[in-house]
Amino acid sequence: MEKKVTVFGSFVVDLMARTPHLPAAGETVKGTVFKMGPGGKGFNQGVAAHKAGADVTMVTKLGQDAFADIALNTMNELHMDTGRVLYSDTTETGCALIMVDENSSQNEIVVILGACNTITDQEVDSLEDLVGQSEYLLTQLETNVSSVERIVDTAYRKGVKVILNTAPVQPVSDELLGKIDLITPNEVEAEILTGIRVDSEEAADKAADWFFSKGVKNVLITLGQRGVYINTGEKKGIIPAYKVDAVDTTGAGDAFNGGLLAALAEGKDLWEAADFANALAALSVQKIGTTPSMPVREEIDAFMAADH
Ligand code: RIB
Ligand code: NA
Repeated sequence: MEKKVTVFGSFVVDLMARTPHLPAAGETVKGTVFKMGPGGKGFNQGVAAHKAGADVTMVTKLGQDAFADIALNTMNELHMDTGRVLYSDTTETGCALIMVDENSSQNEIVVILGACNTITDQEVDSLEDLVGQSEYLLTQLETNVSSVERIVDTAYRKGVKVILNTAPVQPVSDELLGKIDLITPNEVEAEILTGIRVDSEEAADKAADWFFSKGVKNVLITLGQRGVYINTGEKKGIIPAYKVDAVDTTGAGDAFNGGLLAALAEGKDLWEAADFANALAALSVQKIGTTPSMPVREEIDAFMAADH
């Protein structure tokens, strides 16, 4: 039986332009495609987990505007519970300006968090019951840090396992790290947090040891096309990525984290869960967009069953 999980994080509307190359400062480039749709790291991860089959309650914060409707319409279409969404009377729904190089599929993003930067302690405290009923809490660093610290503390006090995806990266306290069951930085984030350049497996071991010394229980570092490094303290190794042709890598990390959560909630071990999560990431990069590119369970199962 799959367990209930909570995803706490950002929703923003993604305004995405595809371009022959990313503009230099002062340069105007004629783009080729514009798309507007749901995004934000928290929301992408929540939708990814839900579409992969998890029993997810999504917590995010919206304004009272047309962008908020994009979140609510998406959740309603996907039959996701909107009952725990928070609202601001004063701050608008966030947005992200994304440019994607259509040749390299590299991106540049500016995110304006709006309402998701204003989550209060009282709002987090209103989630105690929800968090307490969850097997896992998955969160990121895209909402205001005080809200992340408070929700993580709530989960920790209730014995709920916390997965922290350290994006977008910023300094985090030792106190926060000490409450994390599983941390999922990418290589760049791992380096910024630990001061160790993750350019070899030995370096990844050192970075993992640094996280362990802060009280983190399990470390998973995503290595892009090389796959993911996992270290549980007892066992370590690399799970290779699936090789596919990417058209848009924006949100691939979110696909991965949502998939990881869904698989862990189903009772898969961390190694199987990482392979499942790699499949979500591989499927998501083959489609344009972030939230809308998250695969459904049937696609994931078919992809994993095929030869690679
Ligand atoms: O991880 C991708 C996401 O980061 C985008 O959806 C954008 O909203 C940014 O926050
Ligand atoms: Na995508």
